[in-house]
Amino acid sequence: MTVRLPSLRRALCAALSFALAGASLAQDAPAAAPALTAVKAAHWIDAESGRMRGPVVVIVRGERIAEVRDGGAAPAGARLIDLGDATLLPGLIDVHVHLTSDPTTGTGNYYQDALTLGVVDDAVIAPTLAKRTLDAGFTTVRNVGAPGYVDVALRNAIDRGLIPGPRMLVATVPIGSTGGHADDDTGFSSDISFAGPSGVADGVDAVRARVREDVKRGADVIKFMASAGVLSNETSVGAPQYSQAEMDAIVDEAHRWGKKVAAHAHGAEAINMAIRAGVDSVEHCSFIDAEGLKLAKARGTYLDFDVYNDDYILAEYAKLGTPPAQIAKEKLVGRTQRENFRKAVQAGEKMAFATDAGVYPHGWNARQFAKMVEWGMTPMQAIQSATWNAADLLGWRDRVGAIKPGLYADLVAVKGDPLKDIRTLEHVDFVMKGGHVDKADGVAR
Ligand code: ARG
Repeated sequence: MTVRLPSLRRALCAALSFALAGASLAQDAPAAAPALTAVKAAHWIDAESGRMRGPVVVIVRGERIAEVRDGGAAPAGARLIDLGDATLLPGLIDVHVHLTSDPTTGTGNYYQDALTLGVVDDAVIAPTLAKRTLDAGFTTVRNVGAPGYVDVALRNAIDRGLIPGPRMLVATVPIGSTGGHADDDTGFSSDISFAGPSGVADGVDAVRARVREDVKRGADVIKFMASAGVLSNETSVGAPQYSQAEMDAIVDEAHRWGKKVAAHAHGAEAINMAIRAGVDSVEHCSFIDAEGLKLAKARGTYLDFDVYNDDYILAEYAKLGTPPAQIAKEKLVGRTQRENFRKAVQAGEKMAFATDAGVYPHGWNARQFAKMVEWGMTPMQAIQSATWNAADLLGWRDRVGAIKPGLYADLVAVKGDPLKDIRTLEHVDFVMKGGHVDKADGVAR
């Protein structure tokens, strides 16, 4: 959110170059990469088949995995990274984050944040949040909504190797109706209007135009608000915020451009409308009903439940001066969402790991795994939701999501057995992205 300023453009450019320069100075000078690296571990998770295996030697050439051997010695001449008794997993994937915001990096007050922080501040902080995410073992994220195309610039700088961060698919500006979950002006005086590119669009022609604008500015995926939300000032939490015709138009237009669609939806009716419109994933899914579960199953729609959020919002948001009406909405959503998560697991739905990090602190993404296990997933199902299955939702199974020849060498390692204690994933000791070691606590680089 940003208040309209004549010099916004210049200020934004300055902030971005400052952020990027600062981050690249902080990075290690790149060492000349040896032709081959061998990563050895006693155990590994085959995310595609859902099996724990081991021992393993993963042979990495450049950015990619060249070979996966069942133990044995590292090839002669390869740089050896011996992870000992650790468990090796594919780099983790979070399909729902917002790297331009974080509850711990603002002013500590809702209204002060709203009125004194803008897109420039978001751009400055984003590289730090990206680094926290990568250090936590998340080597790929889908950023489903950001102001002012900061996500595009962040993705591009990471891809160019200027700053460390996860691979990103970005949605740019989320699309929503007037007064809805994407309309930042709602709840403020009519004297106040937040500037910058807005995703607010009403009517089939306008929503199509907005999809085209997002694509033009660099979106990999389209995000729209099918229903009302929690952390926004409309009174409903789950009512549909678009007509069926508008949702149909968004999905039709996005797919025409080859972009997948993620729909934010808490309410049952909005969820069903979004699935009927043909979205690729529904985010939140709080009040999904039997009909929604049936429709999603039949159409292969991914259901992305952010089941950790409720704990953080209820513990912390009142202290941040969040409007009580928003916290009251959270109380309507939290428990039911978890119960419905369990039903979705039991129904065998397609599900991807989606935290909405940014609502809770970046780098804490993995805390959601324990919630998913508490509410019905096996540890392996939870891990697959953040690897092979997430890669399917992204359309990136040719790049990420498994330890497999040809895919990017995105690897993480933990001490101990995550199938026995899923919380081991909250402490990742080793992170490699595209063959580059980002983090190696207690193991040789
Ligand atoms: N971004 C979401 C919204 O504001 C967060 C919902 C968080 N609550 C939850 N129980 N998952 O609607």
